[in-house]
Amino acid sequence: MASLIWHPIRRLLFGPPSAPSISFDPARDIPSLAGKVILITGGAGDLGKALAIEHARHGPAQIYIADLAQEDNGEAVIRSIRESASLPPAGDGGVLIKFIDVDLASFESVRKAAGRLRAEIGRLDILVNNAGVVLMRNEVSVDGYELTWAINFMGHALLTKLLLPTLLSTASQLESSDVRIIVVSSEGHAMVPRGGIAFDQLKTPCKDISYVHRYGQTKLALILYAKSLSLLHPEITTVSVHPGRILTGLFRRLQKDSKLFKYTALITPLFTTSVENGVRNHLWASTAPIHQAKTVEARDGAAATGNSDNKSPNLGVVVSGTYYEPVGVTGKESALAQDEALRVRLWEWVEGELDGQVTGTTA
Ligand SMILES: NC(=O)c1ccc[n+]([C@@H]2O[C@H](COP(=O)([O-])OP(=O)(O)OC[C@H]3O[C@@H](n4cnc5c(N)ncnc54)[C@H](OP(=O)(O)O)[C@@H]3O)[C@@H](O)[C@H]2O)c1
Repeated sequence: MASLIWHPIRRLLFGPPSAPSISFDPARDIPSLAGKVILITGGAGDLGKALAIEHARHGPAQIYIADLAQEDNGEAVIRSIRESASLPPAGDGGVLIKFIDVDLASFESVRKAAGRLRAEIGRLDILVNNAGVVLMRNEVSVDGYELTWAINFMGHALLTKLLLPTLLSTASQLESSDVRIIVVSSEGHAMVPRGGIAFDQLKTPCKDISYVHRYGQTKLALILYAKSLSLLHPEITTVSVHPGRILTGLFRRLQKDSKLFKYTALITPLFTTSVENGVRNHLWASTAPIHQAKTVEARDGAAATGNSDNKSPNLGVVVSGTYYEPVGVTGKESALAQDEALRVRLWEWVEGELDGQVTGTTA
């Protein structure tokens, strides 16, 4: 009886239930990650840290946690990851975990972090562009971009561009190489300003655009950017993921800053899931078997048939260029996320913006 009343209310408030997840158990399904080098932005945050812990349990060579500078240079985060993953103390061999400070809002900081990474690592197997913010305040970054746009999109675009040579050289080492870029987007990519991305306001505080839409346009841009990367670099598997709704640092900050989130705090647990569950889509995308087709045409066909009806031959296989909802569910992106003209326009715009940022580096 209660469910007769509750289900319609839940649907009204929080939308239709998600399509069924594919079967994925991190402990059982993640293969050995031996030899792999992994970089996770926002790795000190809730989902980033949970991702690092589960990756660490599967024995990669190195995990880099990239996040805002910490007073202890990331020592507490590293210790907590090692303890949670039951790793031996640092220095006893096994997985090496390092902290690298980066402020994604600043091109200078991103260039510095990428320079340090390139000097330290000979390979990069998994790049997870996970950091993200929802900002109520209207501000511009030191480089003049609206701050949400600067952190969620521009910083990641520059970091990826600077690390591409390392990713590509890793991909070229073996015919069977498996190099991935995981871009953390959101179902919020559907809540955007008119036209999707307000190109004419990206270098302003976007005063006329709500914080929901400012966040949404960054998440839409990340999906489109991932598609462009997958088309231009078929030797790398690039996908975007929505993790689900999880009570993380991002939500806790909103509960402080936004009246709506503060007043609905009591019911938040009804529509959020645990961090452990919420990180499963990141984990699946970064470790499940990849589609082996090396041509864009073959992978396009795979993405088109990779639906969640439990009949697709690609079910459970990570197809480059695809947007996934939890876990491994396709076919959920908005019309704008599938808009070719918008994808090309964004790619050309961002390439133009980043042009001067790469010259002078060794990338
Ligand atoms: N939680 C959800 O329900 C949900 C839903 C959809 C998508 N996502 C996405 O999931 C990703 C992970 O977020 P989360 O939920 O785990 O939130 P979180 O706990 O707040 O983690 C985000 C991390 O990014 C860091 N960060 C913030 N500004 C940065 C900057 N300028 N440079 C570098 N790092 C910065 C944060 O550092 P500080 O803590 O020091 O600020 C934090 O460690 C985000 O991209 C988010 O948009 C989350």
